[in-house]
Amino acid sequence: MTSTLPRLLAAEEIRRRVGELASEISRDYADRPDVLLVGVLQGASVFLADLIRSLAIPVSLDFVRASSYGPAAASSGRVAIRADLETPLAGRDVLIVEDVVDTGRTLDRLLERLAEGRPASLNVCTLLDKPSRRVLPVRARYVGFEIPDVFVVGYGMDYNERYRQLPDVHYLDPPPPQDSWNTND
Ligand code: IMP
Ligand code: MG
Repeated sequence: MTSTLPRLLAAEEIRRRVGELASEISRDYADRPDVLLVGVLQGASVFLADLIRSLAIPVSLDFVRASSYGPAAASSGRVAIRADLETPLAGRDVLIVEDVVDTGRTLDRLLERLAEGRPASLNVCTLLDKPSRRVLPVRARYVGFEIPDVFVVGYGMDYNERYRQLPDVHYLDPPPPQDSWNTND
C-alpha cells in the first residue's frame, strides 16, 4: 500500500538497517543460549517480525503492552505495563524490542518492571530514537535510526490506529497535537 504522506524512511532502507541490527545482535549474543525477545505491542510488531527472521541465533519471544494513565495521560507520562510474560526472566538474556523511543517514559518503566524478574542481562533494541524528545535518560543499546522531532507512522506505527500497514515510515505534517503523541502502542 502506498501513501501520499511525506516519507522519512523507505522500506528498502529499513530492510537494510534491520539486517545490520540483526547481525550485530547475533554477534553480541552468539554465546548466549537463552535469549528472550520482548516485543512492545502493538507498534513494534512489524519491526520484530522482520528482525527475528534475520537473526542467526535462537531466540524465544514474548510480548508486553504499555499504557499511559492519569490526567492528560500521554503528556503527564505515567506508564502502566501489562506484562503477562509467559516465561520467567531469571537468568535469561532479555532484549526489549521497541518501535520508537520518544520521551523515554515507556522504556524507563519497562526496564524497571522487567529488572524485577532478575534477568542475566537486559537491553533494548529500538527501530527509531528521538533523542531530542527525551525526558528520562534511557538509552537503547541498538538503534535503527535516530530521527528528528517528528510524529512518525507506518511500518507498524500508528496514529489513532491508522497507517500501521504502510511499508515505509512517514511523518505527519502538520504534526498531531502533542498530548496524543505517545499513546504507548
Ligand atoms: P515514550 O514513552 O514517550 O518514549 O513513547 C513511547 C511510545 O509512544 C512508543 O512506544 C510509541 O508507541 C509511541 N510513540 C512515540 N512517538 C511516536 C511517533 O512518532 N509515532 C507513533 N508512535 C509514537
Ligand atoms: Mg511502542
